[in-house]
Amino acid sequence: MKILVTGGLGYIGSHVTVLLLESGVEVISIDNLDNSRIEVLEGIRAITGKKPVFELLDLKDKDKTIDLFKKYTDIDGVIHFAAHKAVGESLESPLKYYENNIGGLINLLELLCELSIPLIFSSSCTVYGQASKLPIEENTPLKPPSSPYGYTKQIGEQIIEDCCEAHLGFKAILLRYFNPIGAHPSAKIGEYPKGIPQNLVPFLTQTAIGKRPILKVFGSNYNTPDGTCIRDYIHVMDLAQAHIDSIYYLISCDKKLTCEIFNVGTGHGVSVLEVINAFEKITSKSVSYRFSDPRKGDSVAAFADVNKINNQMGWKAKFSLEDALQSAWNWEKEIDRKS
Ligand code: UD1
Repeated sequence: MKILVTGGLGYIGSHVTVLLLESGVEVISIDNLDNSRIEVLEGIRAITGKKPVFELLDLKDKDKTIDLFKKYTDIDGVIHFAAHKAVGESLESPLKYYENNIGGLINLLELLCELSIPLIFSSSCTVYGQASKLPIEENTPLKPPSSPYGYTKQIGEQIIEDCCEAHLGFKAILLRYFNPIGAHPSAKIGEYPKGIPQNLVPFLTQTAIGKRPILKVFGSNYNTPDGTCIRDYIHVMDLAQAHIDSIYYLISCDKKLTCEIFNVGTGHGVSVLEVINAFEKITSKSVSYRFSDPRKGDSVAAFADVNKINNQMGWKAKFSLEDALQSAWNWEKEIDRKS
């Protein structure tokens, strides 16, 4: 089997590439290196003993995207990660987000529909906004997202659904990720944000190692047991495995499947303070933090109902929160050792 991974050197794309290579799948990895590093290829090689075929490519470049599919004529499926993902930046530069996340997707879809190549799309629980019922099921009505980034995921999903309706033979799976954290157990690849991290766990590990003076906990008076927000933190290795299961499910399933949506989370909600406490316990490090105002656009609580993916694909998260935080910490120490 030959799979094209877009955004293949990014955080989730690199972990999925490792699992694909380990299961004997050939990988063509493309990336524009906008928010990733070429050294990730070396990390992938160190783990798997193999290097994916790599092409420096930006999906916004339609002609080059067409050329890619002329060069590789036997692609069995595409896993599409290539997208911007910073909520704050999307509020400042909306067009950058629409042009990249939607423009790139459309260029890709034109080819996939024409060639009937199945697609796995990287979506997000951000499409639910603050859901009125927890845990969140896939058929929960979507609310207007709080950022252009969120809109690109909602609109992206809609475009793919429309394409599946219109093009017989084209099928897709939309994976709505909850909060991916952690790193490969080898600490050879992991999340490597450029600039100041926007997400909790990289900010936490950078604070613990001394790169940041203090972690701000956004909001302490939410209507939750300890007053801080609740999320469903999923180990990136579990999330990566969900892509492997999805690609086999998509390729082997009967023709009736056209477009299916699956939540990917653990099914458990954990508060910000619980994350900090768990981290301190496993690393024996104390993390300086202080409470600050709630962050604009944050929802109070979100965790997944994962029955659908479990029943249909047999997928279930295996790693604990502690495993994920330990791997994130090992990775942070590795980054520090190298710099
Ligand atoms: C965010 C995005 C979401 C995106 C996901 C990608 C928002 C509103 N949502 O999810 O659309 O798909 O990242 O990974 O930004 N927190 C702190 N201090 C920090 C950072 C975060 O207290 O320095 C808190 C947040 O308030 C939140 C929790 O930690 O309650 C998790 O935050 P984060 O890791 O940024 O993820 P989300 O906001 O859930």
